[in-house]
Amino acid sequence: MDTTTATEARYSRGAVILHWIIAVLIALNFAAAWVAEDMPGPQKMQIMGNHKAIGIVILVLTVARIAWRLTHRPPPPSPDLATWEVALSKVVHVLLYVLMLSIPLGGWATHSAFAGGKPVSLFGIVNWPGLPMAQDKVLGETLGGAHGTFAWVMLGLLALHVAGALKHRFLDRNSNALKRMWFGG
Ligand code: HEM
Ligand code: HEM
Repeated sequence: MDTTTATEARYSRGAVILHWIIAVLIALNFAAAWVAEDMPGPQKMQIMGNHKAIGIVILVLTVARIAWRLTHRPPPPSPDLATWEVALSKVVHVLLYVLMLSIPLGGWATHSAFAGGKPVSLFGIVNWPGLPMAQDKVLGETLGGAHGTFAWVMLGLLALHVAGALKHRFLDRNSNALKRMWFGG
């Protein structure tokens, strides 16, 4: 096997673009949810409006990303990873994809229960339909609780994900570890 090719393999440009746009939007959405908590009513509504709109964009981009992933073969695992590292990173990646879908879907359901199926305004430009649900505050609170819990689980997995990437780059001194998910090559 040509080890140079295996060592320097990278994700496709589309996968890299989607990885980083989605990463930035997810970070923004955590920030928005946390900042909104301490805001007075009207500002809270406005920030949460942006939180919902960004979240729907994340949902759509994640569907596009998964479609891209299924049609574009990822690079083979870095040859200097241990078997357990390859297995663990695969599990974390799958769980991240599951959460990248289920968290915005749960947020959408939370909004729909609170608002009785009213649409989500995407930055005042277009409306994203609400799920056909009757207004139900108790259900909204339950769904909102699950939405928040899943977000915490995602945060834990992201800590592991980033720690893994940094370990390979700096402790294992694999200069290609981060480049695999960056532009160029
Ligand atoms: C919200 C933030 C993030 C999410 C949701 C996320 C999600 C993912 C997912 C799902 C994959 C698997 C790609 C695939 O095989 O389909 C991946 C790969 C990768 N991510 Fe992230 N990521 C995030 C942030 C970061 C950050 C901050 C870093 C860098 C410190 C990073 C570095 C990488 C690298 C290097 C890979 C390629 C792993 C490999 O070599 O196989 N990610 N990411
Ligand atoms: C990846 C995307 C998303 C992330 C990471 C995220 C994260 C969060 C977080 C961390 C909270 C605070 C939870 C708490 O304090 O317990 C929250 C609350 C909330 N989010 Fe999201 N969210 C996302 C997408 C969405 C979407 C798409 C919608 C609606 C269309 C939405 C609607 C809400 C609502 C209504 C709340 C308040 C819940 C309540 O009052 O119990 N979120 N979100």
